[in-house]
Amino acid sequence: MKYYLTTPIYYVNAAPHLGTAYSTFAADLIKRFKKMEGYDPVVLTTGSDEHSLKVERAAQNAGVNPLAYTTKMAAEFISQWAKLGIDYDHFIRTSDPKHHETVRWLFERCEKSGYIYKGSYTGAYCVSDEAYVNDVNPGDPCPTCGNPTETVTEENYFFKLSAFQKPLLELYEKNPGFVKPDHRRNEMIAFVEKGLNDLSITRTSMQWGIRAPVEGHHVFYVWFDALISYMSAVKDDGLWPADLHLIGKDILRFHAVYWPAFLMAADLPLPKQVFAHGWILHEDNKMSKSRGNVVRPGPIVDVVGNDALRYFLLREITFGQDGSFSYDALIQRYNADLANGLGNLASRTLTMIQQYKNGLIPKSPGSPEIAEAARRTTEITMDAFCAFNFSRGLESLWSFISVIDKFIVERAPWKLGKDDSDYAQKLLDEVLYSSAEALRILCAWTYPVMPNAARNIWIQLGMAAPIESVSFADLHWGKLRAGQKIGSVAAVFPRLDASAIVKMENLEVQEKARQAELFGAPKATATPTASPEAAKISIDDFVKVDLRVGQVVSAERVKGADKLLHMKVDIGEAEPRTIVAGIAETYPAEQMLGRKVVIVANLAPRKLRGIESNGMIVAASLGDGKPVLAGFLEDVPVGARLK
Ligand code: MSP
Repeated sequence: MKYYLTTPIYYVNAAPHLGTAYSTFAADLIKRFKKMEGYDPVVLTTGSDEHSLKVERAAQNAGVNPLAYTTKMAAEFISQWAKLGIDYDHFIRTSDPKHHETVRWLFERCEKSGYIYKGSYTGAYCVSDEAYVNDVNPGDPCPTCGNPTETVTEENYFFKLSAFQKPLLELYEKNPGFVKPDHRRNEMIAFVEKGLNDLSITRTSMQWGIRAPVEGHHVFYVWFDALISYMSAVKDDGLWPADLHLIGKDILRFHAVYWPAFLMAADLPLPKQVFAHGWILHEDNKMSKSRGNVVRPGPIVDVVGNDALRYFLLREITFGQDGSFSYDALIQRYNADLANGLGNLASRTLTMIQQYKNGLIPKSPGSPEIAEAARRTTEITMDAFCAFNFSRGLESLWSFISVIDKFIVERAPWKLGKDDSDYAQKLLDEVLYSSAEALRILCAWTYPVMPNAARNIWIQLGMAAPIESVSFADLHWGKLRAGQKIGSVAAVFPRLDASAIVKMENLEVQEKARQAELFGAPKATATPTASPEAAKISIDDFVKVDLRVGQVVSAERVKGADKLLHMKVDIGEAEPRTIVAGIAETYPAEQMLGRKVVIVANLAPRKLRGIESNGMIVAASLGDGKPVLAGFLEDVPVGARLK
């Protein structure tokens, strides 16, 4: 059975921080957990929300066009998610033409069923939240985020949200699991019970957005556009409806009210569940770019590793509630739970097996008490993880670690090891088998939370099957094979001291500076010219260059060349052109599919890595050497000539 889950798609006017990484970590955990439960395929979509007014303004401030800006920012998200080891399947960009089509398609379905009309609206709008704000005077602070609101008057297309009060209340009633946790569901019920205003879903004042299929210049309201991305990412894959939208509590109304209403209007299946987690606080406030209190994940991962950061966030904070981050608390938990807890259990168990049993897992049924504790732990952790109560699940795993630690101390295997009697050796085998079997079960359970560390211990235990293939059905006591040779033993979580905090803080300063530069105005590469007159060309010179609109129909990396993409580009000729371009570091192959580009079509062919390239893609060259592809805000037909 399939399981399709999503993270929110992130605004690209700010780089990822711990708050945004939190949703993504949790989604990655759930993906791994669902696989272990036996769902197949388990598909995770994340992505970038590129059409907001704040992104348009951020691009303006940086002095670049919005697509160039968002392309660079989306690349930053992709590289950060790679650094954080996120195992997603789709990265949907709302600037992707495939997404534009889905949005227009869904709008037309709503229109056909009579839920769209034209009207005019004047009111207060919060740019930061990209939402109209009721009950405040224009210019007053937004009640949600505190930023000043703006007055907007627009002739817009409206969605008849008011028609969905009853159907939504019925949905919450009939399907109590639709919004989780329960207190958030109650908030939504209270919100909808107060009555719903129709929603303006197009804007005339913005350029940067998806053009609505109506007369005149209308682009879609960013939330109408953004929510549909969950569907565009998998439209033809048979994965809809989503099983889970994982989001932060601040965007619940959009997911639990607007989104099901849009889908009901379009007569499409609804997602099964929306789970709203709480906020990561730092210095007593929600961590956010506008508050200026963000902590970036990269420097933390460089010092303590991905697993420790994930463990900390998911153990320290009850999923669904707010919780604080501090470097101090991170290091304390790391030392107590990881270095002294799991890490110590792994190294003492494996070292003793090495020392007393020549590195072979001894034969023994294990201790009945530890077996029973393992069974209970599995039961509690399973219930907790199924309810997305990760801190509770982890707490139960760590109580189990304490039980085994106590058992080892009581049995004192270091004494038994010195006693050759059958009785002592039997007890020794029992304690070593029990700890090793407990370790195997703990590895499997901690894998969704700490994939690298769990894999590492798993390999040290000598397990043959990759940890990724383990299912919860394999977790019954006694599955660890006697006689199995363990791998080489190495510490997984070396202890950290205060110098780790200094390192993270220093790296944070550097990372902040790097991102400030990335988000600021890029410097153009000045092309040296001989003299201003000599540099000029006549129109006759210019028309010699055959510039055409092309659409990428296939794209793949050239083996052994990090920068090169091998593409087929349709420029309206009988066959698509083969073009090899040095853009792969900025534009991954999957992002190029379907994208419209500008091609120099009459360039002499040249061979790159043995592939003949018949044309060149036009791009701006920025100071850091990165290309930004030329593109169009309006839709242009393939093959059109640029004059
Ligand atoms: N683009 C919209 C989402 C559209 S989904 C169709 C958006 N983007 S965002 O970048 O501002 O936020 C994305 C997610 O990150 C939200 O779920 C938000 O709750 C989460 N977080 C941002 N800051 C956060 C914290 N400090 N703590 C926890 N999560 C937070 O909203």
